[in-house]
Amino acid sequence: MAEPKVNELMEKIVSLCKRRGFVFQSSEIYGGINGFWDYGPLGAEIKRQVKELWWNAMTRMRDDVVGLEATIIMSPQIWKASGHVDTFSDPMCDCLLTRKRFRADQIEPQSGTVYHFSGALNPRSGETLAEPFAVLLPTDKPPEKARKLAYEFYGTRGWHSVELLDERTESVENTTRFNPENGALLTEPRPFNLMLQTYVGPIQSDENIAYLRPETAQAIFAQFKNVLETSRQKVPFGIAQVGKAFRNEVTPRNFTFRSREFEQMELEFFIPPDEVVEAIHGSVAEPAGPGHPGEPQPNWGWRLWHQYWVEERVRFYEGIGLSRDTLGFHAQTPEELAHYARATTDILFKFPFSKRDAEGRVAGDELEGIAARSDFDLSQHERFSGKPMGVFDEELRTAWARLAPERQAALRDRYHQARLKYLTRTARSGDSPESIARKAQTDADGLARGQYIPHVIEPSAGVDRLILALIANAYHEEVSTDDKGKTEIRVVMRFHPRVAPVKVAVLPLLKNKPELVAKARAIRDRLRPHLAVAYDEAGSIGRRYARQDEAGTPFCVTVDFDTLGEQPELLDTVTVRLRDDGRQERLPVAGLLEWLLARIR
Ligand code: GAP
Repeated sequence: MAEPKVNELMEKIVSLCKRRGFVFQSSEIYGGINGFWDYGPLGAEIKRQVKELWWNAMTRMRDDVVGLEATIIMSPQIWKASGHVDTFSDPMCDCLLTRKRFRADQIEPQSGTVYHFSGALNPRSGETLAEPFAVLLPTDKPPEKARKLAYEFYGTRGWHSVELLDERTESVENTTRFNPENGALLTEPRPFNLMLQTYVGPIQSDENIAYLRPETAQAIFAQFKNVLETSRQKVPFGIAQVGKAFRNEVTPRNFTFRSREFEQMELEFFIPPDEVVEAIHGSVAEPAGPGHPGEPQPNWGWRLWHQYWVEERVRFYEGIGLSRDTLGFHAQTPEELAHYARATTDILFKFPFSKRDAEGRVAGDELEGIAARSDFDLSQHERFSGKPMGVFDEELRTAWARLAPERQAALRDRYHQARLKYLTRTARSGDSPESIARKAQTDADGLARGQYIPHVIEPSAGVDRLILALIANAYHEEVSTDDKGKTEIRVVMRFHPRVAPVKVAVLPLLKNKPELVAKARAIRDRLRPHLAVAYDEAGSIGRRYARQDEAGTPFCVTVDFDTLGEQPELLDTVTVRLRDDGRQERLPVAGLLEWLLARIR
């Protein structure tokens, strides 16, 4: 198989997605809209399956997770409490010449000579414009290029045919202050809130501002108490949600990887704080080594729960065809972690656009983040809504009463310190040090009454990134040479059968033989209620196989004259062709559905 080059590969994938109806640019007939993508017939099938597989694995196959389907627009207070209104921003800067916008933290460092100009002089009127401008050029480039850009810059201000003032040069290393495309100076980075805003109600006033949710997670926290009370669950347990999220990304890029409208699959798994586990079970079990830690145990602390969810999620990816070697892991450093998070592990996929390090290794780009978020979210909603978010645990109350006083004091003190840290960090105007200390003390005293605010482990995955990973992973080119020496490249999408958009294609050998067509249609109708079936009678059988290979259909069923009994012993049998190795098997029609289901589930 030929290995296409990286960016070439991405181009081929994007073009295949359009040609075969996986993904289209949104609003394409009007020139498109940056950061928005539509899923065509094949893509829509994959998307439904990915979400259903996630939902089944995370909720239906477990006793300890239940689902939620919340609205996209919620009370703006939710986004105040979560911190999104104040801090959900990217640093952004604009090119002074072209106005093109960049994410400041994504600009590659550059070195060279900077040409500074302090302004421009109109030689006819003698007036000056005191507006500095600068251009970065590679050291070997002539200064004329910098001057040309400077003339253009002052021209955009209405100052034409000017003289440049006070040109001076400076050597710089690893600067990110210049447009990487033309060398022009950028504005200073400034925060740009990523939430998309709208108004609810007929009046477009500040009181009516609402946000399209930038993540599905917050609805889970806001509905935590309702779900707890109606689902008969008890901590540890989780709430799962799949749905749209919106972010006004500064630079949407890499096809669907960074979009402005996308879907998330998020689980908030609520666990007791370690002090509670220790009070009830005497000690907290810690990870014994890498790998899956096995069935959850009541004495697990947050570290084991975090490890468990990372490994569960990797198993999920393996189960849909993303083998461990296509994935990568990134444990966020203390500098990268949010202030309330204790640990976050990102599961990465090695996309065709993922960067290589100096040794040629590819780390990958984020598919999913698994964060240990402490009790930050529920605590925030408790404070902002004034509604209690804690739980009562009879086991804790009973165990606490049996603890030696010094053990109680030690656990209470640890819990108190943690609450004090949180309350101090998030203090609002009006929160005095005394009121914070009192609240932390009340929270710590709650342990004796069996009360605490649960902590949370959050596996948060993106549907669109996963689909892109599945498409990139499935993409294979097969080169064949015919007897005349002509080579042909065929694309075979080797999707895992679980995520293939079409599971089986039913093909009558000839379309002008009514008996074959009728039999093939009858087989299609029998399979259809159970799985996604394509029916194709157009063109040679070879061409039809090739069409299905490109769509990623794992099985093709051919109905031929033997199916009709030309060789009596083969009556009511069909040929099943396997996409990945072209092998063919003869199977009875009666057992076909069972055979297929065993391979796609
Ligand atoms: N509640 C936590 C949260 O939202 P995140 O890392 O910002 O965390 C989680 O997002 C996942 O959502 C990411 O790992 C990614 O798969 C997906 N995601 C985030 N921003 C995205 C974007 N602009 N386009 C596509 N997917 C995105």
